[in-house]
Amino acid sequence: MSVGVIIPAAGSGTRLGEPVPKAFVKLGDRTILEVCVAGVLDAGVADTVVVVVPADLVDDARRMVPEATVVAGGAHRSDSVRAGMDAVGVADVVLVHDAARPFTPPAVFGRVVDAVGAGHPAVVPGLPVADTLKEVVPGDTSGIEQVRATVDREPLRAIQTPQGFTRDALRAAHADDTGLATDDAGLAERVGIPVHVVSGDPLAFKITTPWDLRIARDIVAESAR
Ligand code: CTP
Ligand code: MG
Repeated sequence: MSVGVIIPAAGSGTRLGEPVPKAFVKLGDRTILEVCVAGVLDAGVADTVVVVVPADLVDDARRMVPEATVVAGGAHRSDSVRAGMDAVGVADVVLVHDAARPFTPPAVFGRVVDAVGAGHPAVVPGLPVADTLKEVVPGDTSGIEQVRATVDREPLRAIQTPQGFTRDALRAAHADDTGLATDDAGLAERVGIPVHVVSGDPLAFKITTPWDLRIARDIVAESAR
């Protein structure tokens, strides 16, 4: 069973607010992208790795991650994933893994690949939700929002990456894209492909905000000691 990994890294990192696109922000000596690609290679599941970056950073990325094929991404995350699909070649299983989750442990990759290999066309890692979740009345801009309901968190999972698909399932999922999905499994669900969840890991967290970047830099500094 051959496995291709697509790493979308073409986002701008608006919520992070750094002067360079998120994947090119440094955690110690290495960029988020370099740490992520090293982690994917360490996991030992990938036959090919495709990295998708902003068009003006393709040459920089080729120098940074010579082990990977580097292509230019698009405006939405799903456009970037499709650019990666065109470059990944023939693979039985395709994993889509956010560059912004550089510490994802090898075992998570293993669980996702194993579950796809066992016959599930779409598999995502997820974790139970710890906080109490409340739904608010939308549209309040005053900063004080009214609660409409408390949501039952028991059946909810916070979804991470790598998300794994058979090649056909990923193609079918992306054939019907409206540009609004925040993950690939969401597209698969919309075309009726069953999606299954395996256990994720806290270390697979996504670097999204300055707080996350602080934690990421602490993790790197700690592992260097
Ligand atoms: N991504 C991408 N192409 C895009 C948008 C996002 O390849 N057009 C990638 C990001 O680089 C990231 C992953 O998708 O690795 C998850 O997206 P997110 O965390 O939202 O990153 P950004 O879009 O860069 O951040 P923000 O939404 O804060 O701008
Ligand atoms: Mg984004």
